[in-house]
Amino acid sequence: MAENKQNGQPSQPLLSSSSGVVDGRANKLKSLNPVTGESDEPILVGFEDVSAAAYRIRKGVRKTPCDRSNMSETLKMDLYFKKEYLQHTGSFKERGARNTLLMLSKEQKKKGVIAASAGNHALALSYHGRDLGIPVTVVMPLNAPIMKISACRKHGAEVHVNGADLIESKEIALKMAKANLLAYINGYDHPDILSGQGTLGLEIVEEVPDLDAVVIPVGGGGLIAGVAVAVKGLRPDVQIIGVESERCASFQAAMDAGHPVKIDAIQSLTLADGLCVSKVGSNAFATASGLIDKVISVSEDFIALAILRLIEEEKAVVEGAGVTAFAAVLAGLLPELQDRKVVIPLCGGNIDSTVLGRCIDRGLAADGRLCRFIVTVSDRPGGIAELTRLLCSLGASVKDIFHERAWLVSSVFSVQLKVVLEVRDGEHGHQVKQALTQQYPNNLLWGLDLGFTASTSRITET
Ligand SMILES: Cc1ncc(COP(=O)(O)O)c(C=O)c1O
Repeated sequence: MAENKQNGQPSQPLLSSSSGVVDGRANKLKSLNPVTGESDEPILVGFEDVSAAAYRIRKGVRKTPCDRSNMSETLKMDLYFKKEYLQHTGSFKERGARNTLLMLSKEQKKKGVIAASAGNHALALSYHGRDLGIPVTVVMPLNAPIMKISACRKHGAEVHVNGADLIESKEIALKMAKANLLAYINGYDHPDILSGQGTLGLEIVEEVPDLDAVVIPVGGGGLIAGVAVAVKGLRPDVQIIGVESERCASFQAAMDAGHPVKIDAIQSLTLADGLCVSKVGSNAFATASGLIDKVISVSEDFIALAILRLIEEEKAVVEGAGVTAFAAVLAGLLPELQDRKVVIPLCGGNIDSTVLGRCIDRGLAADGRLCRFIVTVSDRPGGIAELTRLLCSLGASVKDIFHERAWLVSSVFSVQLKVVLEVRDGEHGHQVKQALTQQYPNNLLWGLDLGFTASTSRITET
């Protein structure tokens, strides 16, 4: 966790609707390479760029609801969710994609665009490209979800599944851009992408005018940069807090270094795969860093728990990348927001059903509603029945049970059972543990990190 380290204190906005600190857009884009979408000097996006984008995309992108959460009382804050998972392709990425496509020159609109993306950016470009009659090519890494690959094809994009990871896919896409004169659209750093994402901030201030803070997921930094420009431009006193996955804290690394730096990050290791960008964008960082009050990171357990809570309490299916800001609130990482009016964008809902199933299980475990233990019981008739009778009397339900005889070093008339239980809550789990400890005083191992070994004969706290 860190305050803004660039200037060592909660930051003041650099840009505002009236400050005119930032050059006009035409000057800024002079230095932007039309093929790579990159520039020698970082390009700052200004409030005027965001408000122009809002006008430009008003007919093609949904204005999503920003509703008060059912969990406000429990979490002791006036909490609002901006429901970006309700966009046509399931994420806020449509804002930047449509804005960027509309900003292309007439010739470039004919030639088309290309992007490297494993998901939401590719989907957004494909959908709006078809809507605007602009050819879109996307290069997706080999591990991109099949569902997203076929959705891009369905939206009429030319899809190349190539590259071991996003970095390789980007290299391939840049070569294709050069060869075919396509414009490469970086999904988190192109200035027009940042301006488009900023329209989310304008809507938040319009929908919840007296807000105190916005908490935003951070990947490559494009979303937080645009939203920070919009919100600080209208309401400089509102706090902007970014949340990364603990497994890819590249924005914090950039804040510490004073410029974007590459960190080690493996996409498959985080549930927030959409946030796994090993080096944040230079335009995004230059635009955002002076406007952000704080960046923190959150663990996988709370990301899973946040997905589960949103399903149960809000009837909302939100992907890992889209819940990290809410996960930080659930993890108690933002106590200063208690009793404040807080807006959290739920940024995207594109999650594979298989991944969703795993997230629900992990969320239940993190919530103490799934627990597991190993116990050694008598292998005589009735030994296992005695255990299940006890569990039944306690109201716990057996989800999985596995029994093992071959590696036990105790009596040959013993059997070791590995059990996964469903319980009502953490308190109920504790009662079950107490009762089992009483019944099997020397033969119970309770907890999270259980090895299934023969010598298990002690009680372990989790
Ligand atoms: C659902 C979702 N939320 C948040 C983000 C973060 O956006 P950015 O990369 O602009 O920081 C992404 C990026 O892909 C995303 O897909």
